[in-house]
Amino acid sequence: MKKISINKDIHLAKTLPSFFYLDNDYYQLSIKKIFESSWQIITDINSFKNNIYPFTFLEDSIDEPLLLTKKNNEIISLSNVCTHRGNILCEDSKSLKNILCKYHGRVFNFSGELISAPGFENVKNFPTKKDNLYQSKIKIWKNFILTSLSPKINLHEIFKDIEDRLNLYPFEKIKYDEESSKTYYIDAHWALYCENYLEGFHVPFIHHGLNRDIALNTYKTILLKNGVLQYTLSKSNEKKIGIPSKYLNSDENVYAYYYWLFPNMMLNFYSWGISINIIEPISKNKTRIKFLSYPIDNNIQPVKLDSSLDKVEKEDQAVVLNVQKGIASMFYNRGRYSSKHEMGVHHFHRLLCNYLN
Ligand code: FES
Ligand SMILES: [Fe+2]
Repeated sequence: MKKISINKDIHLAKTLPSFFYLDNDYYQLSIKKIFESSWQIITDINSFKNNIYPFTFLEDSIDEPLLLTKKNNEIISLSNVCTHRGNILCEDSKSLKNILCKYHGRVFNFSGELISAPGFENVKNFPTKKDNLYQSKIKIWKNFILTSLSPKINLHEIFKDIEDRLNLYPFEKIKYDEESSKTYYIDAHWALYCENYLEGFHVPFIHHGLNRDIALNTYKTILLKNGVLQYTLSKSNEKKIGIPSKYLNSDENVYAYYYWLFPNMMLNFYSWGISINIIEPISKNKTRIKFLSYPIDNNIQPVKLDSSLDKVEKEDQAVVLNVQKGIASMFYNRGRYSSKHEMGVHHFHRLLCNYLN
């Protein structure tokens, strides 16, 4: 495989070569080297009502069956695969006393320890630690539960930045709303979707409605360790749209804070609540985009506006699909970065190369 490198100096650097998006080996390598090391938001503590919550780590690309358990408010993430002959242990979220394998009756407790194994009374050197369920890493941040198979991507600086800037944001009042949440599928590489998110350069060209709400000349891009923050102020006469200053460590009229967490999560803070985007690779040219909506109290996510998330999202997806076609051109290989507007994209590409190499 050809090695990719991106110059540290954005003024000299070239963007990712198109083979990164087109070559299946590169796709597989990103899953292995990046996504296996990543943290993924699984659910939130209020939505995890029962004491068992089975899930797949990254459906269609990693497909690792896992299980959250809850006991005395401690949440643990376990392998959902029986250590005997590999049966899947739990299929639905429910409240149980322990974890029973329905194949040959093995029982595990909520920490994953084997507590009974019928038929194994005379088996030698049994049980050992290997007969317990594997515990994967877990992180609870605010309301959210994240897991990782092998965490190498540290998100600490991003979470700290959110806590500092949004120090009074009412996390305790946000609630998942299924109705305004959505899943999209797009025939494009996951990284093309992320890099479009990482610049506001396209806003006046692609998002005419949004462009009327925000003061684009105030757009800022702040590079963080394994992340990027972008934010912009509201147009001054439309204060009501922005995040109320009582939530912020700032008296500026911030329209939204857009946090991107390497490689594939976005936390967007608005006056009405939080929208989380999770970008899940399915193949080198297919991606699932989950939009999870978390309004504050009785707020609702605005839907009819010209700047509504759904409208902006469709505008973004249309251009990402075009780029997917364009990068396959025999006349396109790689481009250059706008050093004024594309620091976030450059940072993303540098991170990709660091984790791949
Ligand atoms: S596979 Fe679970 S007890 Fe046999
Ligand atoms: Fe956009």
